[in-house]
Amino acid sequence: MAIEKVGVVGCGLMGAGIAQVSAAAGFSTIVREVGPELLDKGIKGIEKNLARLVEKGTITDVAKGEVRGRLRGTTVIEDLKDCDLVIEAIIEQLPAKRDLFATLDRICPEKTIFASNTSSLTITELATATKRPQRFVGLHFFNPVPVMKLVEVVRTIATDATVYDEMVAFGTKLGKTAVRANDSTGFIVNRLLVPYLLDAIRALEEGVGSIEDIDNSMKLGCGYPMGPLTLLDFVGLDTTYYISQIMFDEFKERRFAAPPLLKRMVLAGWNGRKAGRGFYDYSDPQKPVAQKL
Ligand code: CAA
Repeated sequence: MAIEKVGVVGCGLMGAGIAQVSAAAGFSTIVREVGPELLDKGIKGIEKNLARLVEKGTITDVAKGEVRGRLRGTTVIEDLKDCDLVIEAIIEQLPAKRDLFATLDRICPEKTIFASNTSSLTITELATATKRPQRFVGLHFFNPVPVMKLVEVVRTIATDATVYDEMVAFGTKLGKTAVRANDSTGFIVNRLLVPYLLDAIRALEEGVGSIEDIDNSMKLGCGYPMGPLTLLDFVGLDTTYYISQIMFDEFKERRFAAPPLLKRMVLAGWNGRKAGRGFYDYSDPQKPVAQKL
């Protein structure tokens, strides 16, 4: 089956990014948000990103218009009824995602493939909210979606092999390197990334080095684009805490357990860049200052 029309549910940071790359890759794309304000915010973000690409000379003004022309926003879930593929990128909560997929299952024809952008929930558990687990995959993108070159394509034991190959081909058409992963909690990236990020917090807790020195060590010593504590602020401390709890619950291994400092920072609302403070203070977003913890 050729994918022509793509639906994206959720126009937050991830959903907007996915909608942008889908429209840029030539797919007719419809993105749904719950209310007009959130939808407007998401679409404006995409338009800003496209305008920046024109300024930099990466795309022409004509191409920008074509991409925008392929993209439509809606607040009505039924508008996704004629999509060949629907990608879910809503809040990372199992009941909300299962409810959404049960609704989509009623609205969309049998041929429609469903995908979730979840980073930590079990794809199998989402797929069983529908009557089409054979047409259900994980498509896990990375923030910022237009920049990061990877998509994890996740299969469950129930995923049809042809559907899976089609989704790998779809990821490649988006300009990403599509890696194949099984439905194991955290897939490939978070299986490796989460213990690393949690270890950086443990190193800080144990006084191995300061915030700046831990970040500079991994940035300059290992060539990572961001140090681990900066990356934690970027991903969100609440998000990382949530993922670590799900991974710990699944594997019962210390390497996935949230360090006490992470829990306390989340309790205090110091959730990283989006909250204005995490390991760094973002009062001046151009010049983050390491916190005294
Ligand atoms: N949207 C679109 N483009 C963006 C962007 C955004 N939000 N942020 C940066 N860019 C673009 C810039 O325009 C710039 O483009 P050009 O090279 O064409 O000029 C390019 O990205 C580099 O940006 P900057 O020069 O401003 O800054 P940088 O070199 O520090 O790069 C970064 C920024 C790409 C975010 C880089 O620091 C990076 O790769 N960081 C690591 C990000 C990462 O690890 N993400 C994965 C997180 S884990 C996850 O998402 C999944 C999960 O399950 C938790």
